[in-house]
Amino acid sequence: MNLAILGAQWGDEGKGKIVDLLTPQFSIVARYQGGHNAGHTVYVNRKKFILRLIPSGILHPGVTCVIGNGVVVDPQALLAEIDELAASGVDVDGRVVVSDKAHLILPYHRDLDLLSEARRGERKIGTTSRGIGPAYEDKIARRGIRVGDLADPIGLEEAIRVNVAARNRVVQDTTMDWRPVFEQLVRQAERLRPWVRDVSLLLDQAMRGGRSILFEGAQGTLLDIDHGTYPYVTSSNASVGGICTGLGLGPRAIHGVLGVVKAYTTRVGEGPLPTELTGAMGNRLRDSGNEYGAVTGRPRRCGWFDAVVARYSVRINGLDALALTKLDVLDGLETIPICTAYRCSGRTLTEFPSDLAQLAKCEPVYESLPGWQAGTAGVRRFDALPDNARRYIARLEEVSGVPAAIVSTGSERDDTIVRRDTLQAVNLRLAL
Ligand code: IMP
Repeated sequence: MNLAILGAQWGDEGKGKIVDLLTPQFSIVARYQGGHNAGHTVYVNRKKFILRLIPSGILHPGVTCVIGNGVVVDPQALLAEIDELAASGVDVDGRVVVSDKAHLILPYHRDLDLLSEARRGERKIGTTSRGIGPAYEDKIARRGIRVGDLADPIGLEEAIRVNVAARNRVVQDTTMDWRPVFEQLVRQAERLRPWVRDVSLLLDQAMRGGRSILFEGAQGTLLDIDHGTYPYVTSSNASVGGICTGLGLGPRAIHGVLGVVKAYTTRVGEGPLPTELTGAMGNRLRDSGNEYGAVTGRPRRCGWFDAVVARYSVRINGLDALALTKLDVLDGLETIPICTAYRCSGRTLTEFPSDLAQLAKCEPVYESLPGWQAGTAGVRRFDALPDNARRYIARLEEVSGVPAAIVSTGSERDDTIVRRDTLQAVNLRLAL
Protein backbone atom coordinates (compact mmCIF):
# COMPACT_ATOMS: atom_id res chain seq x y z
CA MET A 1 0.00 0.00 0.00
CA ASN A 2 1.03 3.62 -0.58
CA LEU A 3 0.69 5.96 2.38
CA ALA A 4 0.71 9.75 2.71
CA ILE A 5 2.20 11.33 5.82
CA LEU A 6 1.52 15.02 6.12
CA GLY A 7 1.29 17.84 8.64
CA ALA A 8 -2.18 18.50 10.07
CA GLN A 9 -1.29 21.77 11.86
CA TRP A 10 1.16 24.59 10.96
CA GLY A 11 4.21 22.43 10.22
CA ASP A 12 6.89 21.15 12.59
CA GLU A 13 4.57 18.37 13.79
CA GLY A 14 7.35 15.77 13.74
CA LYS A 15 6.75 14.35 10.27
CA GLY A 16 10.45 13.50 9.85
CA LYS A 17 10.42 11.07 12.75
CA ILE A 18 7.19 9.37 11.61
CA VAL A 19 8.42 9.07 8.01
CA ASP A 20 11.70 7.61 9.23
CA LEU A 21 9.84 5.16 11.47
CA LEU A 22 7.58 3.90 8.67
CA THR A 23 10.13 3.94 5.83
CA PRO A 24 11.18 0.27 6.23
CA GLN A 25 7.66 -0.64 5.01
CA PHE A 26 8.21 1.12 1.68
CA SER A 27 10.53 1.01 -1.34
CA ILE A 28 10.26 4.70 -2.19
CA VAL A 29 9.79 7.91 -0.20
CA ALA A 30 8.63 10.86 -2.30
CA ARG A 31 8.44 14.58 -1.48
CA TYR A 32 5.74 16.37 -3.47
CA GLN A 33 5.96 20.07 -2.51
CA GLY A 34 7.90 22.75 -0.66
CA GLY A 35 11.64 23.08 -0.73
CA HIS A 36 14.47 23.61 1.72
CA ASN A 37 12.14 25.70 3.89
CA ALA A 38 11.39 22.30 5.47
CA GLY A 39 13.57 20.95 8.25
CA HIS A 40 12.66 17.36 9.04
CA THR A 41 14.56 16.25 12.11
CA VAL A 42 15.39 12.59 12.62
CA TYR A 43 17.42 11.13 15.49
CA VAL A 44 19.16 7.81 14.97
CA ASN A 45 21.25 6.47 17.85
CA ARG A 46 21.34 9.96 19.37
CA LYS A 47 22.71 11.41 16.16
CA LYS A 48 20.62 14.27 14.78
CA PHE A 49 19.92 14.61 11.06
CA ILE A 50 18.02 17.57 9.63
CA LEU A 51 16.62 16.79 6.19
CA ARG A 52 15.56 19.76 4.11
CA LEU A 53 15.02 18.67 0.53
CA ILE A 54 15.92 15.00 0.59
CA PRO A 55 13.05 12.77 1.76
CA SER A 56 13.42 11.55 5.34
CA GLY A 57 13.65 7.94 4.08
CA ILE A 58 17.30 8.47 3.10
CA LEU A 59 18.56 7.10 6.42
CA HIS A 60 17.36 3.60 5.46
CA PRO A 61 19.69 1.89 2.97
CA GLY A 62 18.11 0.74 -0.25
CA VAL A 63 15.13 3.10 -0.17
CA THR A 64 14.82 5.37 -3.21
CA CYS A 65 14.21 9.05 -2.38
CA VAL A 66 12.25 11.02 -4.92
CA ILE A 67 11.93 14.79 -5.27
CA GLY A 68 8.78 15.45 -7.28
CA ASN A 69 7.89 18.17 -9.78
CA GLY A 70 5.89 20.01 -7.11
CA VAL A 71 9.07 20.66 -5.11
CA VAL A 72 11.17 23.78 -5.69
CA VAL A 73 14.83 22.81 -5.78
CA ASP A 74 17.73 25.03 -4.82
CA PRO A 75 20.62 23.13 -6.46
CA GLN A 76 23.12 24.57 -4.02
CA ALA A 77 21.05 23.45 -1.03
CA LEU A 78 20.44 20.02 -2.56
CA LEU A 79 24.11 19.37 -3.29
CA ALA A 80 25.16 20.65 0.15
CA GLU A 81 22.65 18.31 1.79
CA ILE A 82 23.86 15.35 -0.24
CA ASP A 83 27.48 16.14 0.68
CA GLU A 84 26.55 16.51 4.36
CA LEU A 85 24.77 13.15 4.37
CA ALA A 86 27.67 11.46 2.59
CA ALA A 87 30.09 12.96 5.14
CA SER A 88 27.95 11.47 7.95
CA GLY A 89 28.30 8.05 6.34
CA VAL A 90 24.86 7.90 4.67
CA ASP A 91 25.14 6.23 1.28
CA VAL A 92 23.19 8.41 -1.15
CA ASP A 93 24.66 7.04 -4.38
CA GLY A 94 21.99 6.10 -6.87
CA ARG A 95 19.25 6.64 -4.29
CA VAL A 96 18.14 10.19 -5.08
CA VAL A 97 15.86 11.01 -8.01
CA VAL A 98 14.86 14.54 -9.04
CA SER A 99 11.97 15.33 -11.37
CA ASP A 100 12.90 17.02 -14.64
CA LYS A 101 9.79 19.16 -14.13
CA ALA A 102 10.76 20.50 -10.69
CA HIS A 103 11.40 24.24 -10.70
CA LEU A 104 14.70 25.71 -9.57
CA ILE A 105 15.29 28.21 -6.78
CA LEU A 106 18.10 30.49 -7.95
CA PRO A 107 20.02 33.23 -6.11
CA TYR A 108 17.69 35.99 -7.34
CA HIS A 109 14.71 34.26 -5.72
CA ARG A 110 16.31 34.67 -2.30
CA ASP A 111 16.79 38.42 -2.92
CA LEU A 112 13.19 38.75 -4.06
CA ASP A 113 11.94 36.89 -0.97
CA LEU A 114 13.79 39.32 1.33
CA LEU A 115 12.62 42.35 -0.63
CA SER A 116 9.01 41.21 -0.68
CA GLU A 117 9.05 40.73 3.10
CA ALA A 118 10.66 44.16 3.65
CA ARG A 119 8.04 45.80 1.44
CA ARG A 120 5.16 44.17 3.29
CA GLY A 121 6.36 45.80 6.53
CA GLU A 122 3.88 45.03 9.29
CA ARG A 123 2.07 42.58 7.03
CA LYS A 124 5.16 40.43 6.48
CA ILE A 125 4.64 36.66 6.28
CA GLY A 126 7.72 35.72 8.28
CA THR A 127 9.05 33.48 5.52
CA THR A 128 12.13 31.28 5.87
CA SER A 129 13.93 33.60 3.32
CA ARG A 130 14.81 30.63 1.15
CA GLY A 131 13.27 32.07 -2.03
CA ILE A 132 10.36 29.63 -1.93
CA GLY A 133 7.56 32.11 -2.77
CA PRO A 134 9.35 33.85 -5.65
CA ALA A 135 10.32 30.49 -7.22
CA TYR A 136 6.67 29.36 -7.18
CA GLU A 137 5.67 32.81 -8.51
CA ASP A 138 7.95 32.26 -11.52
CA LYS A 139 6.44 28.80 -12.02
CA ILE A 140 2.89 30.14 -12.08
CA ALA A 141 3.90 33.10 -14.26
CA ARG A 142 5.40 30.59 -16.74
CA ARG A 143 8.90 32.03 -16.64
CA GLY A 144 10.41 29.48 -14.23
CA ILE A 145 13.48 27.39 -14.98
CA ARG A 146 13.05 23.66 -14.52
CA VAL A 147 15.56 20.95 -13.70
CA GLY A 148 15.10 19.58 -17.24
CA ASP A 149 16.17 22.94 -18.69
CA LEU A 150 19.68 22.34 -17.38
CA ALA A 151 20.24 20.03 -20.34
CA ASP A 152 20.08 22.96 -22.79
CA PRO A 153 22.82 25.51 -21.91
CA ILE A 154 21.84 27.93 -24.68
CA GLY A 155 18.21 28.18 -23.62
CA LEU A 156 19.32 28.26 -19.98
CA GLU A 157 21.64 31.22 -20.54
CA GLU A 158 18.85 33.18 -22.20
CA ALA A 159 16.34 32.38 -19.44
CA ILE A 160 18.79 33.41 -16.72
CA ARG A 161 19.64 36.66 -18.50
CA VAL A 162 15.94 37.54 -18.69
CA ASN A 163 15.15 36.56 -15.09
CA VAL A 164 18.19 38.33 -13.61
CA ALA A 165 17.30 41.48 -15.59
CA ALA A 166 13.77 41.26 -14.14
CA ARG A 167 15.28 40.89 -10.66
CA ASN A 168 17.46 43.96 -11.23
CA ARG A 169 14.45 46.04 -12.22
CA VAL A 170 12.76 45.13 -8.93
CA VAL A 171 15.71 45.10 -6.51
CA GLN A 172 17.14 48.49 -7.29
CA ASP A 173 19.77 48.97 -4.61
CA THR A 174 22.01 46.14 -5.85
CA THR A 175 22.66 44.76 -9.33
CA MET A 176 23.10 41.06 -9.95
CA ASP A 177 25.37 39.85 -12.75
CA TRP A 178 23.72 36.96 -14.63
CA ARG A 179 27.06 35.34 -15.63
CA PRO A 180 28.12 33.87 -12.26
CA VAL A 181 24.56 32.63 -11.73
CA PHE A 182 24.68 30.83 -15.07
CA GLU A 183 28.22 29.52 -14.64
CA GLN A 184 27.53 28.12 -11.19
CA LEU A 185 24.38 26.46 -12.46
CA VAL A 186 26.24 24.82 -15.33
CA ARG A 187 28.65 23.29 -12.80
CA GLN A 188 25.80 22.15 -10.55
CA ALA A 189 23.96 20.69 -13.56
CA GLU A 190 26.90 18.33 -14.14
CA ARG A 191 26.40 16.78 -10.71
CA LEU A 192 22.59 16.75 -10.85
CA ARG A 193 22.33 15.10 -14.28
CA PRO A 194 22.48 11.42 -13.21
CA TRP A 195 19.55 11.91 -10.83
CA VAL A 196 17.14 13.62 -13.21
CA ARG A 197 14.17 11.49 -14.24
CA ASP A 198 10.55 11.52 -15.35
CA VAL A 199 9.19 10.96 -11.81
CA SER A 200 5.59 10.24 -12.80
CA LEU A 201 6.76 7.44 -15.09
CA LEU A 202 9.22 6.09 -12.55
CA LEU A 203 6.55 5.92 -9.83
CA ASP A 204 4.03 4.34 -12.19
CA GLN A 205 6.50 1.64 -13.18
CA ALA A 206 7.43 1.09 -9.54
CA MET A 207 3.77 0.61 -8.57
CA ARG A 208 3.20 -1.78 -11.47
CA GLY A 209 6.21 -3.73 -10.21
CA GLY A 210 4.58 -4.05 -6.79
CA ARG A 211 6.74 -1.47 -5.01
CA SER A 212 5.13 0.76 -2.42
CA ILE A 213 5.50 4.50 -1.91
CA LEU A 214 5.42 6.75 1.11
CA PHE A 215 4.42 10.32 0.25
CA GLU A 216 6.10 12.82 2.55
CA GLY A 217 4.45 16.21 3.04
CA ALA A 218 6.36 19.29 4.14
CA GLN A 219 4.97 22.22 6.18
CA GLY A 220 1.35 21.62 7.21
CA THR A 221 -2.28 21.87 6.13
CA LEU A 222 -2.76 25.28 7.76
CA LEU A 223 0.21 26.56 5.72
CA ASP A 224 -1.30 25.27 2.44
CA ILE A 225 -1.55 27.98 -0.24
CA ASP A 226 -5.25 27.22 -0.82
CA HIS A 227 -6.53 25.80 2.45
CA GLY A 228 -4.23 27.45 4.99
CA THR A 229 -4.51 30.78 6.76
CA TYR A 230 -3.90 32.77 3.57
CA PRO A 231 -1.89 34.98 3.07
CA TYR A 232 0.12 33.69 6.05
CA VAL A 233 0.98 30.45 4.30
CA THR A 234 3.69 28.89 2.21
CA SER A 235 3.38 28.90 -1.59
CA SER A 236 2.56 25.23 -2.22
CA ASN A 237 -0.16 22.65 -1.57
CA ALA A 238 1.03 20.96 1.61
CA SER A 239 -2.29 19.15 1.93
CA VAL A 240 -3.12 15.84 0.26
CA GLY A 241 -4.06 17.38 -3.11
CA GLY A 242 -0.40 18.31 -3.64
CA ILE A 243 0.49 14.62 -4.02
CA CYS A 244 -1.30 14.13 -7.36
CA THR A 245 -0.07 17.37 -8.93
CA GLY A 246 3.35 17.28 -7.29
CA LEU A 247 4.27 13.77 -8.42
CA GLY A 248 2.08 13.09 -11.45
CA LEU A 249 -0.13 10.40 -9.93
CA GLY A 250 -3.83 9.66 -9.89
CA PRO A 251 -5.77 9.84 -6.62
CA ARG A 252 -6.19 6.06 -6.41
CA ALA A 253 -2.43 5.76 -5.89
CA ILE A 254 -2.98 7.12 -2.36
CA HIS A 255 -4.26 4.27 -0.21
CA GLY A 256 -4.12 5.92 3.20
CA VAL A 257 -3.45 9.28 4.79
CA LEU A 258 -1.84 9.77 8.18
CA GLY A 259 -1.95 13.26 9.67
CA VAL A 260 0.81 14.21 12.07
CA VAL A 261 -0.21 16.43 15.00
CA LYS A 262 1.59 17.60 18.08
CA ALA A 263 -0.15 17.06 21.42
CA TYR A 264 -0.28 20.88 21.48
CA THR A 265 0.08 23.48 18.70
CA THR A 266 2.98 25.52 17.34
CA ARG A 267 3.50 27.97 14.55
CA VAL A 268 6.55 29.83 13.29
CA GLY A 269 6.21 33.09 11.37
CA GLU A 270 3.29 35.50 11.33
CA GLY A 271 -0.45 34.85 11.07
CA PRO A 272 -3.28 33.72 13.33
CA LEU A 273 -2.86 31.04 15.99
CA PRO A 274 -6.11 30.96 17.99
CA THR A 275 -4.82 28.98 20.97
CA GLU A 276 -1.53 30.90 21.29
CA LEU A 277 -0.11 31.24 24.80
CA THR A 278 2.05 34.30 25.23
CA GLY A 279 2.86 34.10 28.96
CA ALA A 280 4.74 31.69 31.17
CA MET A 281 2.86 28.63 29.88
CA GLY A 282 3.87 29.46 26.30
CA ASN A 283 7.50 29.63 27.44
CA ARG A 284 7.10 26.37 29.34
CA LEU A 285 5.88 24.55 26.20
CA ARG A 286 8.60 26.17 24.05
CA ASP A 287 11.35 25.17 26.47
CA SER A 288 10.26 21.62 27.20
CA GLY A 289 9.35 21.02 23.56
CA ASN A 290 12.54 22.68 22.29
CA GLU A 291 10.35 24.68 19.96
CA TYR A 292 12.91 26.48 17.84
CA GLY A 293 12.88 26.31 14.04
CA ALA A 294 15.03 23.52 12.57
CA VAL A 295 15.88 25.70 9.56
CA THR A 296 15.97 29.27 10.88
CA GLY A 297 16.34 28.76 14.66
CA ARG A 298 13.38 31.11 15.23
CA PRO A 299 11.40 30.54 18.45
CA ARG A 300 8.06 28.91 17.65
CA ARG A 301 4.79 30.30 18.98
CA CYS A 302 3.10 27.72 21.20
CA GLY A 303 -0.49 27.01 22.26
CA TRP A 304 -2.90 24.30 23.35
CA PHE A 305 -4.23 21.57 21.05
CA ASP A 306 -6.83 23.01 18.70
CA ALA A 307 -9.45 20.44 17.73
CA VAL A 308 -11.14 22.86 15.30
CA VAL A 309 -7.88 22.82 13.34
CA ALA A 310 -7.54 19.04 13.66
CA ARG A 311 -11.11 18.43 12.38
CA TYR A 312 -10.44 20.81 9.50
CA SER A 313 -7.30 18.86 8.57
CA VAL A 314 -9.23 15.60 8.76
CA ARG A 315 -11.71 17.03 6.26
CA ILE A 316 -9.24 18.69 3.86
CA ASN A 317 -6.98 15.63 3.69
CA GLY A 318 -9.40 12.77 4.29
CA LEU A 319 -7.20 11.64 7.17
CA ASP A 320 -7.56 8.02 8.22
CA ALA A 321 -5.72 8.46 11.49
CA LEU A 322 -3.39 10.70 13.44
CA ALA A 323 0.21 10.25 14.50
CA LEU A 324 0.37 12.16 17.77
CA THR A 325 3.80 13.52 18.68
CA LYS A 326 5.50 15.14 21.68
CA LEU A 327 3.04 13.83 24.25
CA ASP A 328 5.88 13.85 26.81
CA VAL A 329 6.15 17.66 26.58
CA LEU A 330 2.87 17.84 28.53
CA ASP A 331 4.17 15.65 31.41
CA GLY A 332 3.75 17.24 34.82
CA LEU A 333 1.04 19.77 33.95
CA GLU A 334 -1.77 20.13 36.47
CA THR A 335 -4.50 20.53 33.84
CA ILE A 336 -4.42 20.52 30.06
CA PRO A 337 -6.93 22.59 28.09
CA ILE A 338 -8.16 21.44 24.65
CA CYS A 339 -9.81 23.94 22.31
CA THR A 340 -13.01 22.32 21.03
CA ALA A 341 -14.69 25.30 19.32
CA TYR A 342 -14.31 29.05 18.75
CA ARG A 343 -16.46 31.84 20.12
CA CYS A 344 -16.82 34.51 17.49
CA SER A 345 -19.07 37.63 17.65
CA GLY A 346 -21.42 35.90 20.10
CA ARG A 347 -21.63 32.67 18.07
CA THR A 348 -20.00 29.31 18.66
CA LEU A 349 -18.10 27.99 15.65
CA THR A 350 -17.17 24.35 15.37
CA GLU A 351 -15.76 24.60 11.83
CA PHE A 352 -12.54 26.44 10.95
CA PRO A 353 -13.48 29.77 9.29
CA SER A 354 -12.19 30.57 5.78
CA ASP A 355 -12.10 34.27 6.47
CA LEU A 356 -9.00 35.52 8.24
CA ALA A 357 -10.79 38.60 9.62
CA GLN A 358 -13.35 36.32 11.24
CA LEU A 359 -10.64 34.02 12.56
CA ALA A 360 -8.89 37.02 14.12
CA LYS A 361 -12.04 37.68 16.18
CA CYS A 362 -12.31 34.08 17.39
CA GLU A 363 -11.67 33.17 21.00
CA PRO A 364 -10.95 29.53 21.78
CA VAL A 365 -13.52 27.59 23.81
CA TYR A 366 -11.63 25.26 26.12
CA GLU A 367 -12.41 22.20 28.11
CA SER A 368 -9.84 21.20 30.70
CA LEU A 369 -8.56 17.72 31.30
CA PRO A 370 -6.53 16.61 34.31
CA GLY A 371 -2.81 16.24 33.56
CA TRP A 372 -0.52 13.41 34.63
CA GLN A 373 2.46 13.60 36.94
CA ALA A 374 4.31 10.46 35.80
CA GLY A 375 6.76 10.77 32.89
CA THR A 376 5.68 9.50 29.47
CA ALA A 377 9.05 10.12 27.79
CA GLY A 378 10.23 6.95 26.09
CA VAL A 379 7.07 4.92 26.92
CA ARG A 380 6.57 2.29 24.22
CA ARG A 381 3.30 0.60 25.20
CA PHE A 382 -0.09 2.29 25.25
CA ASP A 383 -1.15 0.52 28.43
CA ALA A 384 2.02 1.75 30.16
CA LEU A 385 0.89 5.38 29.80
CA PRO A 386 -0.57 7.12 32.87
CA ASP A 387 -4.40 6.87 32.96
CA ASN A 388 -4.83 10.59 32.42
CA ALA A 389 -2.50 10.55 29.40
CA ARG A 390 -4.68 7.81 27.86
CA ARG A 391 -7.78 9.85 28.67
CA TYR A 392 -6.22 12.91 27.05
CA ILE A 393 -5.50 10.92 23.88
CA ALA A 394 -9.00 9.43 23.87
CA ARG A 395 -10.49 12.92 24.09
CA LEU A 396 -8.26 14.23 21.28
CA GLU A 397 -9.49 11.36 19.15
CA GLU A 398 -13.13 12.13 19.94
CA VAL A 399 -12.89 15.84 19.19
CA SER A 400 -10.71 15.34 16.09
CA GLY A 401 -12.90 12.60 14.63
CA VAL A 402 -10.14 10.05 13.85
CA PRO A 403 -8.06 7.73 16.03
CA ALA A 404 -4.43 8.22 17.00
CA ALA A 405 -2.69 5.17 15.54
CA ILE A 406 0.83 6.21 16.50
CA VAL A 407 1.92 8.09 19.61
CA SER A 408 5.45 9.46 19.81
CA THR A 409 6.98 9.86 23.26
CA GLY A 410 10.50 11.01 22.40
CA SER A 411 12.83 11.85 19.56
CA GLU A 412 14.45 8.42 19.00
CA ARG A 413 12.88 5.98 16.52
CA ASP A 414 11.98 3.54 19.27
CA ASP A 415 10.31 6.09 21.56
CA THR A 416 7.03 5.33 19.88
CA ILE A 417 3.76 3.58 20.64
CA VAL A 418 2.33 1.83 17.59
CA ARG A 419 -1.34 0.89 18.08
CA ARG A 420 -1.62 -2.04 15.72
CA ASP A 421 -5.32 -2.64 16.37
CA THR A 422 -6.05 0.99 15.52
CA LEU A 423 -4.01 0.83 12.31
CA GLN A 424 -5.90 -2.28 11.33
CA ALA A 425 -9.27 -0.73 12.21
CA VAL A 426 -8.67 2.13 9.77
CA ASN A 427 -7.28 -0.23 7.13
CA LEU A 428 -3.69 0.98 7.25
CA ARG A 429 -1.95 -2.29 6.54
CA LEU A 430 1.53 -1.74 7.90
CA ALA A 431 3.63 -4.59 9.25
CA LEU A 432 4.85 -2.74 12.34
P1 IMP B 1 8.10 30.23 3.14
O1 IMP B 1 7.67 28.82 2.92
O2 IMP B 1 9.58 30.37 3.41
O3 IMP B 1 7.63 31.15 2.05
O4 IMP B 1 7.38 30.76 4.48
C1 IMP B 1 5.97 30.95 4.55
C2 IMP B 1 5.43 30.58 5.92
O5 IMP B 1 5.53 29.19 6.11
C3 IMP B 1 6.19 31.21 7.09
O6 IMP B 1 5.28 31.45 8.13
C4 IMP B 1 7.15 30.12 7.51
O7 IMP B 1 7.54 30.25 8.86
C5 IMP B 1 6.28 28.91 7.29
N1 IMP B 1 7.06 27.70 7.03
C6 IMP B 1 7.70 27.37 5.89
N2 IMP B 1 8.28 26.16 6.00
C7 IMP B 1 7.99 25.72 7.23
C8 IMP B 1 8.28 24.51 7.93
O8 IMP B 1 8.93 23.59 7.42
N3 IMP B 1 7.79 24.41 9.19
C9 IMP B 1 7.03 25.39 9.76
N4 IMP B 1 6.74 26.53 9.15
C10 IMP B 1 7.21 26.69 7.89
